[in-house]
Amino acid sequence: MNTYDLIIQLALERGFYFPSSELYADASAGFWEYGPNGVRMKNKFLDLWRRELVRRDNMLEIDGSQIMSKSVFTASGHLSNFTDPVVKCKKCSSSFRADKLIQEVANVEVPERLANEFVDNLIKENNVTCPLCKGELSNAERFNMMFKIEIGPNHDEAYLRPETCQSIFVDFSRIYKVSRGKLPLGIAQIGKSFRNEISPRQGLLRLREFYQAEIEVFCNPSKLNDLSKFDDVKDTLLRFYDGHYLELSVQEALDRNILPNKLVGYYLALLVEFFEKTGIDKKRTRLRRLSDDEKAFYSTVAFDFEVDTSIGWLELVACNYRSDYDLKSHSVTSKTNLEVMDEEVKVLPHVFELSLGVDRCIYSIIEHSYFVDRENEDRAVLKLRPYLSPIHAGVLPLLKKPEFKEKSNKLLTLIQKDFDIFYDEAGSIGRRYRRLEEIGTPFAFTIDHQTLEDDSITVRYRDSMKQERIRIEDASSFLFANIYSYEKMQ
Ligand code: GLY
Repeated sequence: MNTYDLIIQLALERGFYFPSSELYADASAGFWEYGPNGVRMKNKFLDLWRRELVRRDNMLEIDGSQIMSKSVFTASGHLSNFTDPVVKCKKCSSSFRADKLIQEVANVEVPERLANEFVDNLIKENNVTCPLCKGELSNAERFNMMFKIEIGPNHDEAYLRPETCQSIFVDFSRIYKVSRGKLPLGIAQIGKSFRNEISPRQGLLRLREFYQAEIEVFCNPSKLNDLSKFDDVKDTLLRFYDGHYLELSVQEALDRNILPNKLVGYYLALLVEFFEKTGIDKKRTRLRRLSDDEKAFYSTVAFDFEVDTSIGWLELVACNYRSDYDLKSHSVTSKTNLEVMDEEVKVLPHVFELSLGVDRCIYSIIEHSYFVDRENEDRAVLKLRPYLSPIHAGVLPLLKKPEFKEKSNKLLTLIQKDFDIFYDEAGSIGRRYRRLEEIGTPFAFTIDHQTLEDDSITVRYRDSMKQERIRIEDASSFLFANIYSYEKMQ
């Protein structure tokens, strides 16, 4: 089995994630659910994102509506521009996303925003036909990826948001005022977004309903290099890719004009430092500057933060310099002045965004943490950072007897409210360790005969399998010290 299939199997069998509505044959592709372990891990990943980006930089977080009015997307440009090229088979009527189909069949890179006539030419030049029946394909048309919905008995037109950030732009001037904001100001949001993908696929990697964690940094365009906090990160190493790899400090990248300004450099450094704490292998990540054909329509400078996985490079974060595109268009469409005061001067802020795809991150972290321990019975271990692990610790009484249960309860009372604990008294102790390791549990507490005598328990470490004894009363401080050791793990 290849790594991707192993991870899917683990996800399905251990309740990380699985297809939505799976009892029914009419369930559409592109919708997946998180099970209990997936939710625990996702919440912890988002806690880390809040810790390392939102709180570190004093950002503000909001929680906006998923359904937004038509005018929002007229202003944002999504109604006219948020499209993918689609081709239809003239014989069997199946539809395909043209750029992806050409890439798969002819192995040619096709930029997302390539005009229809160039897509048609590529189809002809490479003799691309319907992958299902070999029928001839239609000319490319643009397919808008937003889900249109109707509100109330009058069927008022509205849309499910295709990116969370539109509410941040619409809400910006209120938030700036009520929080007495100062530029640069980061506003963050975690939530669901919706895209009517033509060919959803690969589990969490191309979904129609997905989680984003987005940050929009509002800034004064005349002060992009006036940022004292830049010095905190000037030596952070970034890995760039433009056909070959280049590892440079943020300062060096700025000096060589690889980065446009200090503000962009600062936030890319924060992002990279955050990812170092997720357990994703830094050597298998890169920042890739996008060409004009690849950039989203609202972006003037764009870097993708990408990760290498068993099925190729994946975009995890779109880092877009959106200029004043959004605030200007919402100002015009809503006829509202969205300028704010920045040190006595009126300014329409520009925006630099870090738009993170949560589900893809979860997949990538699981894949980079998956390890088969060939020296120990080929045990499968998820070497997750303890603070990302769905279960922090197992509690395992050696025997199913009342006195062991009593000691287990004493331990559980001390740790269960602060940590995610799995109590397991079924099966051999070895099998119980394996079940915990497979979902990444960093510690297992065993209640054994000695516990009955002196209230001590064993702690077994997932990676080294070493064991030591601690007192039941110390279990909570042990977990606090060892789960939240963000700096130690680097
Ligand atoms: N907000 C940018 C994106 O959704 O990719």
